[in-house]
Order: sequence, then structure tokens, then C-alpha cells
Amino acid sequence: DFEVALEKVASDRRKEKPDEGNLGFGVHFTDHMFLMKWDREHGWHDAKICPFDDFSLSPAAMVLHYGQAIFEGMKAYRGEDGQIYLFRPAENFERMNNSALRMCMPRIPVEKVVKSLKALLYLDREWIPKSEGSTLYIRPAMIGAEAALGLRPAGEYWFYIIMSPVGAYYKEGCNPTKIYVSDEHVRAVKGGVGNVKTAGNYAASLFTARLAEKAGCTQVLWLDGCEHKYVEEVGTSNIFFKIDDELVTPPLEGSILPGLTRDSVIKLAESRGVKVVERKIAIDEVLEAIEDGRLREAFGTGTAAVISPVGELFYRGKNYVIGDGRSGELSVELFTDLQAIQRGEKDDPFRWVVRC
Ligand code: COI
Repeated sequence: DFEVALEKVASDRRKEKPDEGNLGFGVHFTDHMFLMKWDREHGWHDAKICPFDDFSLSPAAMVLHYGQAIFEGMKAYRGEDGQIYLFRPAENFERMNNSALRMCMPRIPVEKVVKSLKALLYLDREWIPKSEGSTLYIRPAMIGAEAALGLRPAGEYWFYIIMSPVGAYYKEGCNPTKIYVSDEHVRAVKGGVGNVKTAGNYAASLFTARLAEKAGCTQVLWLDGCEHKYVEEVGTSNIFFKIDDELVTPPLEGSILPGLTRDSVIKLAESRGVKVVERKIAIDEVLEAIEDGRLREAFGTGTAAVISPVGELFYRGKNYVIGDGRSGELSVELFTDLQAIQRGEKDDPFRWVVRC
């Protein structure tokens, strides 16, 4: 009963591929997209792979007013063997279902969506960049599409997947970023929606991100919403600190996004014999450990950001350089390991990779 219609772009109407050396992030889109719709009567229906194009939405569509919007981030990799690989796709869509539950949106059928994504990827396979450091970013999204202004969950939803060939997320590439610690604004509170991937979390971060930029920083490190004391996460990623011989990351206690890259890094580090501790960590402890030389590495983890070393923190007008300000040894090792697994070039003991 779940059929996916195929509306292909004629081969002479396909877009020109961008220069792989200068992709940026999320500015070019492939020829096709996946789209399906939901309403109470039919459930998910009208699934199709169709040309990537604008769609027409009522100005009263509920997403545009009350923000019922969730999304995901995933990547497809071209291995040295020419094969296409996806990283933990089913878990990604399961996380989306968690977000859907919290935002009163319908669940998506994970297996069928993974199958449709594979078909979409196959159709647009020429768009997967071949050069090192570039990948195909996959952006699934769901929005409340019903045209109505009463405040309640929408009765109609659209789910779609678009894809974009990308380079490094940060302009720094693999070089360490400088991060602004926000002691004024907060991202999320326990009991709120910080642990789901909903658009409003990102909209709420923009004002502070602008302050960060003015201070010469790339990103914001958020502290907890109650005491402004404990480290939570960075705008686009989870955060890890290497203190002495331990890798420390804040625990998932309801206000932090449960990153799949975070989970993968914990497992990879442990398999290398590194002790990983998920515990609350106060910003004061972080700064003290930097000054004592016990904290010599910090990095963010995320799908877009991969593993991004942090070279410096900026807090209350003061700079704190981490280690020698360069990428730490462990971050580089974990990055290399993770990339090799993602590209099907290394054993995958955790069975994360799906070959398309
Ligand atoms: C991702 O890492 O996939 C994200 O969704 C973060 C986004 C802000 C680019």
C-alpha cells in the first residue's frame, strides 16, 4: 500500500553540478527530492520522488505561525570502492519520530522512508561529491501544512527529503573554532524541547549567534537554562572535553540533543581504550582545567560539523586558549576513524553503515 511514484527530471533538464572545491554548506541542491503527505483519513500517502522544486503552501499553513517543524541531518558518502554509504539512517529517522511525538506530529514509517531515500540517492548518485572533505548532506524535514489559525496540532503534514552536496560546515574547515560561551541567553530548559530537533530551537539561537560573531567566534556554547552554570551543547553539535585522560561530555538529561555522532564518538573512543564519562560539567571547571593545562582538547560532534576541534573559548570578555590552540590528537584520531567507517573503508564493528 506504500507506493512511491517517480517523476524524473528529463536528462536534458538536469542542473549543472557545482565545483567540488567550493561547495559551501547547503546552497546547492540535487535534481530530485522525496515528498509525501499525511492527513487523518489517509495517513501517509502520495509518496513520490519528484524534481526538486518550490512548493506551494497556504500563507495560513500552521508551520508558518506556530512552528510545527522538525528536521534531521544525515550524510551519504562515496567510498573508494565507488559504493554509496549511509550512516545510521534508521536511527536517524527514529530520532525524528521522537521529535514528532514531542511536537504532536505523525510518526514516519522508518523502513519505507529508508528505502525511498536509497532510491532517491541512486537517482541522484552523480551528485555525491568524490573529493575528500565533501559529502552529500541529506535533510529530511516535516512540517504542519494545514491552513488554520487555531492553536492546536495541524491535521495535515508534509514530509520531504532534500539533498545538498557540501564541503566543511565551518569556514575554518578542520581547523579549530573559537566558541562564545553564552552566560545571558539559554537554548533550552529541562521539560522544554531542547532534546528534539525542532526548528524553534535554531531560531532561538540566532540572536546569540550574532553576538558570538561580533566577538569573532564561530559558534555558541550553551549553558544550562536554570543556573547558567553547566555546559550543555554547541549550536550545531554536542561537546566533548579531554581532561587528563578522560573524555567528558554532558549527560542527556532532557535539554540536550541526543546526537548520533555523539553516540558514535563515545563508542569509538571507548573502543580505543579511552575512558568516557557522561557527567555534568560546570563552565568554571572547564575554564580552570584549561588554565591548569589539564584540559588540552575540546571538540564538537554533529552530522554537519563531524568532529570540529575547539581551539579557544570566549567567556565574559576573556579568551581561554585550549592546549596550543591547534587540533588535538584524539580529535584527529577519532575524526579519521569515523570518516573511514562512514566511507566503508574500515571495519564497522558497530554495524552503523548501510550500503546503498
Ligand atoms: C546537522 O548537523 O545535521 C544539523 O542539523 C545542524 C544544522 C544546524 C546544520
